[in-house]
Amino acid sequence: MNSERKVFVTFYWLCVVCLAYAQQINIIPQPLKITEQKGVFEFNNRTGLYFPNDEDYKRIAGFLANSFQQAAGISMETASKLSSNCVYFKKVRGMGLEAYKLEVKPNRITIMSSYPNGAFYALQTLYQLLPEYIYSPVKKGGITWSVPCCEIEDTPRFSYRGMHLDVCSHFFDIDYIKRYIDLIAMHKQNVFHWHLTEDQGWRIEIKKYPELTEKGSIRKETIIGTLNSGVYDGTPYGGYYTQEQIRDIIKYASDRFVTVLPEIEMPGHALAAISCYPELSCGLEEKYEPATRWGVFPQVYCPKEKTFAFLEDVLSEIFDLFPSPIIHIGGDECPKQSWEKCLHCQVLMKRLGLKDEFELQSYFIQRIEKFVNSKGRKIIGWDEILQGGLAPNAMVMSWLGEEGGIKAAKQHHNAVMCPNQKYYLDYYQGDPSTERLAMGHYVPLKEVYDYNPVPNKLTADEKKYIMGVEGCVWTEYITTPEHVEYMAYPRALAICETAWSSVENKNWDSFIHRLEKHFTRLDEKKVNYCRAFYDVNIEVGKDGTYSKVVSLSVDAPDVEIRYTTDGSDPVSSSPLYKIPFVINPSEKVKARSFRGLIWVGKVTSKGFN
Ligand code: ACM
Ligand code: ZN
Repeated sequence: MNSERKVFVTFYWLCVVCLAYAQQINIIPQPLKITEQKGVFEFNNRTGLYFPNDEDYKRIAGFLANSFQQAAGISMETASKLSSNCVYFKKVRGMGLEAYKLEVKPNRITIMSSYPNGAFYALQTLYQLLPEYIYSPVKKGGITWSVPCCEIEDTPRFSYRGMHLDVCSHFFDIDYIKRYIDLIAMHKQNVFHWHLTEDQGWRIEIKKYPELTEKGSIRKETIIGTLNSGVYDGTPYGGYYTQEQIRDIIKYASDRFVTVLPEIEMPGHALAAISCYPELSCGLEEKYEPATRWGVFPQVYCPKEKTFAFLEDVLSEIFDLFPSPIIHIGGDECPKQSWEKCLHCQVLMKRLGLKDEFELQSYFIQRIEKFVNSKGRKIIGWDEILQGGLAPNAMVMSWLGEEGGIKAAKQHHNAVMCPNQKYYLDYYQGDPSTERLAMGHYVPLKEVYDYNPVPNKLTADEKKYIMGVEGCVWTEYITTPEHVEYMAYPRALAICETAWSSVENKNWDSFIHRLEKHFTRLDEKKVNYCRAFYDVNIEVGKDGTYSKVVSLSVDAPDVEIRYTTDGSDPVSSSPLYKIPFVINPSEKVKARSFRGLIWVGKVTSKGFN
């Protein structure tokens, strides 16, 4: 063989070996350490389950048994003693709360953890070692239910790994909330941040104030299109959760090691509550109604004793329902104009020696914090709770960028990072000209993936206050569960990997290779994820009046980009993109990704301007 050919053959076999490995173990989020070994463990009707005599382990083993029953028609029995051909949940000493070790040998699978949380995450990994059909809700025939032999050691990077859902702009029923939690748990996330109150609707039953849901959960109509369109649908819209349903959700989440973090907004975003109880406002208007359009409203809670009594009553019911050690009190986007005009507010500020309305906001939050702390809980709030001074024990959810999180960490307060520019999943992920109406910014998958939530501006000590990250799904323009999933996935997977995987293991190139396999799992679960991953991104340079440079790129690995400039849709014989090229004003670029003769993405296009 000549040397060129030798290099080629070596390269070819390297690719084959890499591909074989890539296909074998393919997990999102990437575990800390994987050691692959020879052989497989094969599940069959005689595979047993052996676990500690404990309700949590029993439930976790039950999840595995249910999956096998449903997808494979295999009945796994609980073993009374340890034998071969079994999945052994072994409680060991000395591991972290969420850490696990998974050992797959030809005769046994052993899941080691010190706590059931770790065992649950090992189970999520085991599912991803199995054929994707394990996620099927119906029985699949002709599958070999085997798992490659390996040892996996794993533990999360962050203790807070959240996903938020706004159920106020649009309402999502209990069945969908459970599915949302299923996806959170599947991806080793552990917080469901439930945004329950807003200007446009109050969504949680409060026994002492029934009007909040009888009246405050319904808006008389909803704006069509963007927030200033001026066009309304004329149709009442509402929905809320009873306390019984809330309890059901909390149990469902807790069974999957997900904490439900309730959010009760104050002092702003309170119009739905004020429309039921106008005496809680500054009383500047004749009539208050739940908002029918999106945005920020000046009708906020007035910091008077009646308001604090109301909020303490509401929070008391929240404490009874939610075991979460942290309660989200909102705090964002509270315009100050009502307080500026309100006699009570102005007198109060004078009496307390507050220099401005920002300090009044801080007073508001600090009073609420005192109450929440007195009940043994802590508060978390959006960035704006930093205005006028942070309450002594508050955590900050940094959404306006990173600055709020940085400020909090520098003051030795815990923070969760969810900067809107990176982690707001209601923003566009594909070309806005071909996507459904969404919030204005463009945040493609790679930008979400690349975000580093631990700013370098922080010292090593301050960095410890970054507790984790959260993906936010605001639903002004998201009206159905399918569309929630379309907007959230796959970007939520990029966030889950940042939340769980070590810095050393976070690697875009590895992620995009694992992502394709993961799509097959989401397909089994009928998740309506966005496929912009396969679409060609067209960048037309700003230079040149008569010619501009065009660059094409695509996230999906192992595809070819083909393009045209004559307005026709690219086919498998269209020019293959290799390097940037030039177009003139009469030309329009259309591009599409292909694997061989088969197109894998949709056609994207961009003109000269
Ligand atoms: C927010 O997006 N207003 C927290
Ligand atoms: Zn007032």
